[in-house]
Amino acid sequence: MGTSLSSIRKKRVLSRSSQQTSTTATHISSSGGASSQQEKSTSTVIDGRTFHNTDSIYWLPNDDAENDRLVGQHFAMKSLFNGNFNTKVLDYVSMDDRTTQVLDCGCGPGTWIMDVATDYPNCQLTGIDISDVFPTTIRPPNVQFEIGNVLSRLPYEDNTFDFINLRFFILALRKNEWSTTLQELYRILKPGGVIESMECGQLSRGREFIDDLAGRVVTFMESRDQDPWIAQKIPGCLKTAGFEIIETTTKDIYLGKSDSINREFLWDVINIYKSIKPYMAAQLNIQGDKEYDEFLNRLAIECQQEPQAMWDMTSTLARKPSM
Ligand SMILES: C[S@@+](CC[C@H](N)C(=O)[O-])C[C@H]1O[C@@H](n2cnc3c(N)ncnc32)[C@H](O)[C@@H]1O
Repeated sequence: MGTSLSSIRKKRVLSRSSQQTSTTATHISSSGGASSQQEKSTSTVIDGRTFHNTDSIYWLPNDDAENDRLVGQHFAMKSLFNGNFNTKVLDYVSMDDRTTQVLDCGCGPGTWIMDVATDYPNCQLTGIDISDVFPTTIRPPNVQFEIGNVLSRLPYEDNTFDFINLRFFILALRKNEWSTTLQELYRILKPGGVIESMECGQLSRGREFIDDLAGRVVTFMESRDQDPWIAQKIPGCLKTAGFEIIETTTKDIYLGKSDSINREFLWDVINIYKSIKPYMAAQLNIQGDKEYDEFLNRLAIECQQEPQAMWDMTSTLARKPSM
């Protein structure tokens, strides 16, 4: 699944690189110094991982390895929540109607939107993201992708969409950017339309190693003015933006359990720590690749030891009041 997506994207990147000769990547070593810097580039390479180079504070890479992680995480979330979205969406939105417009804000490689487009071939779906990591060869006909930054005014009229999906923005927004984001999404959602947010909490309940690690992530996020506990606050933020809450559901994941969903999330956690290596190695005072690999191996073991580490995901479904 992930491997084939990655290889499709690699082919696309290879064909693109000949077209975008003016685009440059800035290379930065873990010590932080830029080794080459020309015009503003679309990407930045740090310790061999490629990151976006936009105004967003988002700090995960946008390369093949990260996109494969997002594909895996999508299917884990789908299993955890028994579907791509809260079925109560269907009480408010007719997903079989040709006039129904769905937006996936921050769609990444577009797995959610393509999955939904396949289930509901009649509605029209748009995915926006700051990074063009969109699929080109596999794309259902009712899906379009556009570059867009939710922190700028999005290129849609007021009251355009019937359903908006907003998933995993915890590392994408500063604390004060949540209200800007939700207000903008409120503007483009139709009265009576719905928004679903899905966000994760922090690792918890594990042994000392896990507690210490979670504490470092919290400290690092706070140093970037980001909110590690936003998942629980989303209902309040949505209400402040004018939405009515329909339902909030939190699901706990026990990373030591051996069932397939928990295995998928354990894989996800390890791959998140791989993706954030350029930042976390410094937080953990880890110097080299070998030592970081040892840390990842220990993380996998510690997550599964008693008391097992827990992770949580919160879905909040809300509605823009009808006029
Ligand atoms: C953790 S990924 C989640 C991707 C997808 N929603 C999913 O659940 O698989 C967060 C995505 O948000 C995008 N993003 C970050 N800041 C953004 C912004 N200001 N506007 C639009 N997209 C943004 C990132 O490029 C990334 O693709």
